[in-house]
Amino acid sequence: MNPLEETGRSTRNIDPCLLVIFGATGDLTGRKLAPAIYNIGKEGLLPANFACVGFARREKSNEEFRDDLKKSISSYSRTQPIDDNFWSTFQEQIFYHKSEFDSDEGYEALAKTIADLDKRFSTRGNRVFYLSVQPKFFPIIVEKLRKFNLIYDVTKETESWSRVVIEKPFGHDLKSAGQLQDDLHKNIDESQTYRIDHYLGKETVQNIMVFRFGNAIFESLWNYKHIDHVQITVAEDIGIGTRGAFYEEEGLLRDVVQNHVMQILSLIGMEPPVSLKASDIHDEKVKVLKSIRPFTEEDFKSIVRGQYGPGFVNGEDAIGYRQEKNVKPDSQIETFLALRLFIDNWRWGGTVPFYIRAGKRLAKRTSEVAIVFKDAPGVLFQEPNKKSEPNVLTLRIQPDEGISMKINCKVPGPSSPLQPVKMDFRYGSYFGQSPPEAYERLFLDFIIGDNTLFARTDEVETSWKIFTPLLEYWAKTPMTFPNYACGTWGPKEADEMIAKDNRTWRKL
Ligand SMILES: NC(=O)c1ccc[n+]([C@@H]2O[C@H](COP(=O)([O-])OP(=O)(O)OC[C@H]3O[C@@H](n4cnc5c(N)ncnc54)[C@H](OP(=O)(O)O)[C@@H]3O)[C@@H](O)[C@H]2O)c1
Repeated sequence: MNPLEETGRSTRNIDPCLLVIFGATGDLTGRKLAPAIYNIGKEGLLPANFACVGFARREKSNEEFRDDLKKSISSYSRTQPIDDNFWSTFQEQIFYHKSEFDSDEGYEALAKTIADLDKRFSTRGNRVFYLSVQPKFFPIIVEKLRKFNLIYDVTKETESWSRVVIEKPFGHDLKSAGQLQDDLHKNIDESQTYRIDHYLGKETVQNIMVFRFGNAIFESLWNYKHIDHVQITVAEDIGIGTRGAFYEEEGLLRDVVQNHVMQILSLIGMEPPVSLKASDIHDEKVKVLKSIRPFTEEDFKSIVRGQYGPGFVNGEDAIGYRQEKNVKPDSQIETFLALRLFIDNWRWGGTVPFYIRAGKRLAKRTSEVAIVFKDAPGVLFQEPNKKSEPNVLTLRIQPDEGISMKINCKVPGPSSPLQPVKMDFRYGSYFGQSPPEAYERLFLDFIIGDNTLFARTDEVETSWKIFTPLLEYWAKTPMTFPNYACGTWGPKEADEMIAKDNRTWRKL
């Protein structure tokens, strides 16, 4: 019996479908996609009529491919050990297709395989093509899929649907992002395009909207009148590992800030949407991004770029970025960034600084948003020459997912000094389990056809508009790197940058 029929616990109405993963022998498929499919399958959330085809270039039988996936799931799935009963039946729905991305014969054979599997698994012609490949291959793959009628023309009525999921990066700058869009839109419609930003699949990121608009008490404070500033931190303690060649093309701004950080910022800064419809939410996010004040020449000079040198991380020696594999010995690529931006709209009044700090090989792995409120009038409890601590609301995105609020409290006893205390909510302890992996949620959403948690083309473009001038400035202004040691919180200039505004980075 099909294990998905057996469990059948899906809460949303999911059409039967066939999933084709391009780049099925790659790192991302092994580490993220295979564990996500396995876990949602095991939980009975996939459609009962489902099949999956892996597409890549190396020679492999179906059995070898299934065994490779099983090994990856055993290494990377959040649930362990692998459920052999479930897997032994589920794997019968998984197949391998060997081809080059640009080979007509390969797509001809793929079309035949898809038609066969469609009949065998009653997937009713519904298809998702997941492009877990370098972006340079996106145009040729969608062109071939269209040529062999594997993706449908949305202008013609069909009973079945087809969708294409793409992995970042979505362009290298404003121009290339526009070019990529134009190339894709020759063969697929925007409504068929799902741009994965896995940060949006994280429960903690989704919860930003629920927190803001599902509780009456915060929204009235959520503006320039009550908020002093916002700090967004995305810190990793790991280096670039085996991704040297990729990182030499990208750098931290393109890899993390232009996409993940700006998605978080837009959820923090947006107005309440008219409804929870994807288009209404995307519209509000784009409005915030459009309200961000463009950087000036002066801003460019104050934005801090860093690159890690040798140091210590978690008590062990760590090499510098320039010593990593496939990195140029004189590389100008940034692995750290600290900047300040303002949102010129009614809510934020252009006066609330949003400080962003992101980097690799920092002291700790942590991503969070801290909303720092304005000080209470100091007339009653202020001690001489001592400011009371501001209230801080912290949304912890990863790890230790949760929300905390720092408030001032009276220390018990006859004298009444104030002491900041923390009210803390932790997902793990409250709900008894860690949140599911982001990819699990996103998989279900693109199968269902809900693109709320995917980046829309104008979000991507608006974000590139903000950062492309900075990238151009950097290209003509070389830096003396490295300028921070592994295991620290980045260059000292980042501290000086925020100190100029009489503020400090949060100690994490
Ligand atoms: N890895 C991550 O954590 C991560 C995170 C976010 C985004 N991404 C993005 O996701 C994409 C995939 O990343 P990855 O790390 O999985 O890459 P990868 O490990 O290099 O895998 C590339 C895959 O594409 C296949 N392939 C390459 N050229 C091909 C061709 N001409 N014809 C057919 N198949 C070909 C490879 O097949 P063979 O092995 O058979 O050659 C392999 O399956 C990249 O664009 C990356 O930027 C990756």
